[in-house]
Parts: sequence; C-alpha cells; structure tokens
Amino acid sequence: MKFEKDILCVGAGYVGGPTMAMIAYKCPQYKVTVVDINPTRIAQWNSPNLPIYEPGLQEVVEAARGRNLFFSTDIEKGIEEAGIIFVCVNTPTKTFGEGAGLASDLQYLEKTARQIIQSANSPKIIIEKSTLPVRTAQAMERILASNPKGIHFDVLSNPEFLAEGDAIKDLENPDRVLIGSRETANGIKAREELIEIYANWVPREHIISSNIWSSELAKLVANAFLAQRISSINSISALCEASEADVSEVARAVGMDSRVGPKFLNSSVGFGGSCFQKDILNLVYICRHYGLNEVADYWQRVVDINNYQKGRFVMNMLKAMFNTLAGKRICLLGFAFKADTGDTRESPALFITKKLLDERVNLVITDPAALENAKFDLQGTEGQIDFVADPYEAIAGCEAVAVITEWGIYKELDFERIFSSMTKPAFIFDGRNILDHHRLFKMGFNVFPIGKPALTHF
Ligand code: UDX
Ligand code: ADP
Repeated sequence: MKFEKDILCVGAGYVGGPTMAMIAYKCPQYKVTVVDINPTRIAQWNSPNLPIYEPGLQEVVEAARGRNLFFSTDIEKGIEEAGIIFVCVNTPTKTFGEGAGLASDLQYLEKTARQIIQSANSPKIIIEKSTLPVRTAQAMERILASNPKGIHFDVLSNPEFLAEGDAIKDLENPDRVLIGSRETANGIKAREELIEIYANWVPREHIISSNIWSSELAKLVANAFLAQRISSINSISALCEASEADVSEVARAVGMDSRVGPKFLNSSVGFGGSCFQKDILNLVYICRHYGLNEVADYWQRVVDINNYQKGRFVMNMLKAMFNTLAGKRICLLGFAFKADTGDTRESPALFITKKLLDERVNLVITDPAALENAKFDLQGTEGQIDFVADPYEAIAGCEAVAVITEWGIYKELDFERIFSSMTKPAFIFDGRNILDHHRLFKMGFNVFPIGKPALTHF
C-alpha cells in the first residue's frame, strides 16, 4: 500500500510511543515508524507486553501495529525514508559540568541531529517534541544546516502536554496542540503540514501556532504554573497542620472561585514525574543566564517547597512514631509518581525511601504497576527492602503504612483486615488524602493526613 506520508519518530519512550501510536491509529493513510537505540524497548513495543503502563494504550497500539505503525531499531533506514521526523529522545537534567542539576542534558538530541544529517538524502521537517530549553530549535537548525549535502531542513517546535496515566485521553482530546515555527515561507509551509496531520482528529480551533521560541517557552511555563499550584497548596498544608485548619476545605473554597478553578489543588506528599522539576530548573537556569535573578529565585522556590514537603512527610512520621523509626517495619503503599502509571521518575517515593533507610526502617514497598521500576531505582539497597505485589501481604506485620501514590485500588482495600494484620499501635500516613480518615480512626488506626488534624488514640 502507498501511504500519503512517511512519518518517523526517534525515541520510543513515554512521549514518542503513545503519541505516534495515536497518530497511526487516527491516520491509517500515513506510515508511522518509531525507532530507538534501545533494542529491548523496541522488542517490547512489538510484543504483547508494552514497555510502559498507560490505560488504553494497548488497544491503540494493537489496532495500528503492523498496519501503519512500526517499531524498529533501523534508525538510518527510518531517516532515509521519512519526510517528517519527530524527535522524542530523553533530555534529563544535566548531572555534570556547566549547569549541572539545572540545565537539560542535550547530548541525545544533538546525537539525533547528527544522525539525521548522516542518513538524510532529501529535505525533511524536523519536529522537536522532547521538553527542551528555549532556543534549542536554533541549535538544532544550526547543526542540521551544517550538512555537507546542502539539504534543507525545517525545524518546528511541537511540545507535548500529555499527562501520564491520562496520555490516551490527552492525545485524543488535547486542550491544545501548539506548533511553533519560523515565520518564513518554508517555516509556514512546514507548520501547515503538521497542522494537517493533527487536523485528522483535533478540531482546528484547538491547534494553535506561535513563533518557535514562544512554543518552547510555553511548555516550560505550563508545567511551572501547574507545579506552582501544587507547591502553593502544599505550603498551605503545613500551615493547616499547625493551625488545625483542613487543607481540603481550604482548597475547595479557594477552587470554587472560577478565576482559580478546582483542578490541581490536591495537597500531597509532593509532586514528581519527569517534567515538573526538570522544566522549572530549566526555567531557573535560563533566567539566571539572562541575569533575571529575582525571576529565577521566584521559580526556584516552587521546587524548594516541594523538597520541603517531602522532607516534612518523613519528619511527621518520625515525630508521630515516638522519634524513632529504627527497626520498625513500614510499608509504602505505592511507588509510582502518580496513579495509573508505572513511571517512578522523580517520584517522591524515592526521596522518602532514602530518608527512611537512613532512619534504619525495615521497609516494604508495594505498587500495582511500578514494582519493577522501583527495584531498578533502588539497586544497591539489597536486603534492606522487601518488594511485595499484594498490598495485604505487604502490610501484614507492619507498624505503619504510608500512602505515596493515589491508586484507586487503595481506596477499596479492606482496612479492617489490614488493621488486624498489623503490629499495634498501627499508624497510617496518608500522603494523598485518599482514605476515609475518620473511619480508619474508629477502627483503631492512628491517622496522619496531609494538611489536616491528626486523629490519634494517645
Ligand atoms: C505533567 C503535565 O501535567 C503535562 O501537561 C506535561 O506534558 C508533563 O508533565 P505528568 O508529570 O505526567 O504531567 O503528571 P501530572 O498529572 O501533571 O502530575 C505531576 C505530579 O503532581 C504527580 O506527582 C502528581 O501526583 C502531583 N499532583 C498533581 C499533586 O500532588 N497534586 C495535584 O493536585 C495534582
Ligand atoms: P520521554 O519521557 O521524554 O519520552 P524516555 O526516556 O521515556 O523519555 O524516552 C526517550 C527514548 O529515546 C529512550 O527510549 C531512549 O533509548 C531513546 N533515545 C535516546 N537517544 C536516542 C537516539 N540517538 N536515537 C534513538 N533513540 C534514542
């Protein structure tokens, strides 16, 4: 069959995989190939066990795979054949050199640009989808323009706004699709071609365009604003605990102001995920680069409060359990950074685990989808942690349970059964405020929510 367009995606991760699956699913007239340097990942995408857990993803992949969606390690061939190339490689925070701990590590992106130069024999549209610092497109353009074959490349910015766990819903009905381009004739033509792809299923009024720098910056700012809301409500949770106000009641009253809105006001053990902290630190780095130190300090505080919140959670456990956790068996209920994903990147669970191990806790970790990632992340702690899939088994014999991830199944657990299996006095630290605290208290638990008065029997 002859396809109308040949689309390639470099990077088969959390962004590239689901996004390309959706394009292929919605547009059977296009051929979509996803390539990755990691052969295990590609083998998983070609198997019944996909490398990432995402509700609804399996169905979308299975509908399109082999029809017009292909996963491969042949990057050269992919580049040669495609007219449109999405770049979805990872851009983690730098751990070395200038900007370490703040700036993005762009080595994978640059390597991709060089691979494109090497294998391309015809003009192409290159689309940045990885989260990037502002003006990366310019660096990309410069590398691509240096090709000795004189091939023309158009670089577009098309940031991804999907949230894990809701990726399929977000891809199917996005609030907006943002496309940044140069205002040149070629840039506008390239933009129109990308608009045409999304217009197969996204209403035109949801597809917006901007200049390329605004598009790159909008992604960082969108995440910074979302994270800021969480740090704002989390800072108030500390005040609520001190003053005996209830953070959920405060959030409800504040969120009913239509100018504020009710979403993203759930106080928690802290935000995690691959984007929020990385993007804010990027913003901080850029602001410092331009000498905007006040602006940099302002956004840095959003990350600081998040670290404070994670630390406060462990301190509250320590204080509540008579100032010593050594030798106590404690279960972390959930390890993923949020519900409905197996992703553990920057999960507050990582910080909490390290702190609890410092206190010599005898730790048990359970999670319905993230246990393998947790084991990988916690290599080097062998013998100090038990990983148990079944939550009842995990909690049995523990003195405390800490809810870290807001998995729906945890709300449905039989807590009478759990209480009877625990060592007394039994503690629950609800880092997500998802449980019925008064009911648990009546059963005999000592309950410590976030931003609400504790309910204790002593
Ligand atoms: C985020 C953005 O939402 C998305 O648009 C962007 O493309 C990528 O970054 P993601 O990190 O997948 O998505 O998840 P999100 O739902 O935003 O949650 C991030 C963190 O904030 C999680 O740890 C979550 O548990 C926490 N959170 C969220 C809260 O603590 N309280 C809230 O009210 C909402
Ligand atoms: P994200 O959340 O941004 O999608 P991931 O780490 O999940 O990040 O995915 C990025 C993917 O990009 C990884 O599977 C990685 O192997 C792949 N990758 C990185 N560099 C290259 C490259 N030069 N060519 C092909 N794939 C790459």
